[in-house]
Order: sequence, then structure tokens, then C-alpha cells
Amino acid sequence: MPASAAARCLLVDDDPQVRSVLARLIEGQGLQCVQASNGAEALALLAEQGEVPLCITDIYMPQLDGVGFLREARQRYPDMAVIMLTGVAEVATAVECLQMGAMDYISKPVMLDEVRMRVANALEKRNLVLQNRFYQLSLESRVRELDHRNKQSLLNGVEMLVFALEAKDAYTSGHSLRVKEFATRTAVQLGFTGEHLAQIELGSKLHDIGKIGIRETVLNKPGGLSPDEFEHIKLHTVLGERILQPFLAEQPPVLRIVRSHHERWDGTGFPDGTAGEVIPIEARIVAVADAYDAMTTNRAYRPPRNAVGAIEELRLGAGSHFDPEVVAAFFRAYPDLATHPLHA
Ligand SMILES: [Fe+2]
Repeated sequence: MPASAAARCLLVDDDPQVRSVLARLIEGQGLQCVQASNGAEALALLAEQGEVPLCITDIYMPQLDGVGFLREARQRYPDMAVIMLTGVAEVATAVECLQMGAMDYISKPVMLDEVRMRVANALEKRNLVLQNRFYQLSLESRVRELDHRNKQSLLNGVEMLVFALEAKDAYTSGHSLRVKEFATRTAVQLGFTGEHLAQIELGSKLHDIGKIGIRETVLNKPGGLSPDEFEHIKLHTVLGERILQPFLAEQPPVLRIVRSHHERWDGTGFPDGTAGEVIPIEARIVAVADAYDAMTTNRAYRPPRNAVGAIEELRLGAGSHFDPEVVAAFFRAYPDLATHPLHA
């Protein structure tokens, strides 16, 4: 809307005398008037000069009458307040116009004081509508911003929990941050960028959050797990998804990583036993990163493998345990792995 439009009124009537009487009156109220002699001319004028806040239009006019004009104007300029000018016999039409969105109507012959009052009322009502809309929009954006901030601080808390959980155990300390590094660099090799890459980064940091719900005696048990214990530890995938779901529902890739990072390419993983490309790609990436870190760090139940051994393990597992394309991308991301291992 042009800046000048804030103080303009469009008068539409085929009688130039009516227009000039109204123009004098309304200009006395501080509004600059533009005039048109029928609906078609008024629409052309609006198209050329832009929307005006107020329009007073006759009903019976040649070419395009007031009703047709109102219908078009409501569609193209919904914020323009339209007052209908009606003869005594046209009250039914005026009511129909109100139903179509006209703000008010004035009966002819016009009474000057009445016009003044109706014009002032219409402008005030329009201002209220616009203010209300502005208030609502800013309220909505404020609510969105607050919601985002709340989720972010919850997320920060969850990250702290993951780090705290790992810090308690010398074997897994720093695991999630290393997995994040490996997964992100592998994802870049696979062409991930922007928000999707950021979600992979977040998901890999949080992938084991569900271990919060797993008994420590099972988590840190040296040696093998009983079948029951293994079933219990498997739960960390679905538990993690459940923990994050309330505030990460809008970031499905993060939830997919948490749920599916223990799926295996051949379908023998958990919790769903899905295979191949049915396993979300983000989870296939984290599976490789997670396995490499687990193999090369000391665990309660076994000493670490060296880089050469871990590389061999990934190579052997490509196509059975791991997505072969992801393994290849991991090697591309870390081409000097054998000579410069990530964990000495
Ligand atoms: Fe895990």
C-alpha cells in the first residue's frame, strides 16, 4: 500500500454532483478523495493507484454496479472499508452488501452529519481490525519464539544429561561428541547440508539418551550379557525416542537416529529389525560412526581395537551389518585412518 493511501477515500458514483458534495465533506475530515463514475472505473483506479482505506460507493451505476464492484473489491482489497450509498428502495440490497462484507451503508439523500459519523466509524473500525490482526500476528510470532526457546533449553538440558551420563563412565566419556564428529563428516560426504545435516549432528549427539533408563549394572557389566540383560539394553532406542518425542516432534530425522541406530543392513538389528534402505539413512550413518567409536575405545567388556582392526571390521561389515555406501563415505571422510587413527 502506498504511503499516501493512509489518508485517501475513493468515491464511486455516476452522479458527479453527489461525488463533489461527498468529496467536499470528506476532505473536510482530512481525507484526500479520488473519484470514479462506476465500479469498473473504480477497480481500474485502485489497480493503478493501489488500495485506499475507505471507499463510498453507489449501488446503481452503469458498466459495473456497486454490488459487482463490492464483490471484486472484497477479493482484491479485503482491508478496504466499503460504505454503500443506497436509495430508500434499496435497503434489501444494502443488507445483502453488508453480508458480502460492506462495512456500512448510508441512505440517500445523504445527511452531512450522518456521513461524517459513518466515515469516522468506518475508519475507526478498520483500524481496530488491522490493529487486532497485527496484535494477533505478533502474538503468534512471540509464542513461536518462546516455544522455540523452551524447546532449545530443554534440549540443552538433555544434552547435559547425555554428557553427565557418559562422564560417570570412563569407558564412554566423550562418546557422543566423537560419534557426532564422525557422523557429520560422513553425512557431508553423502551430500547432506543445511538443516538436515544439523539434525544428523543433533541426533548423533543424543543417540544414546535412552540409556538414562537402563540399569547401570547392565550398562557397565564386564563380559557378556544374559539374554534378559540384552533385551533390557535394547530398550534404550525406543526409550530415547520417547524421551525426545515431546520436543523434537518437528525434527523426525533426530528421532529416527535415536530409534534406529542399532538396526543392521541385513535386518538382524533392533528394535524393529528393518533392513537395507528401509532403515532411515540418518540412522545408517550414525550406526557406522557409533560402531567405529565403540570399537576403538576401551569398553568395560573388552579392550579397544586399533584403527587397522576397526577399519577391517567396518569393511567386513559393509553389506551385512552396515550400509556399504555409508562405510565408503566414512572412509572418504577419513582417508588417513590407518596411518592417523582417530583414537591413539
Ligand atoms: Fe546405542
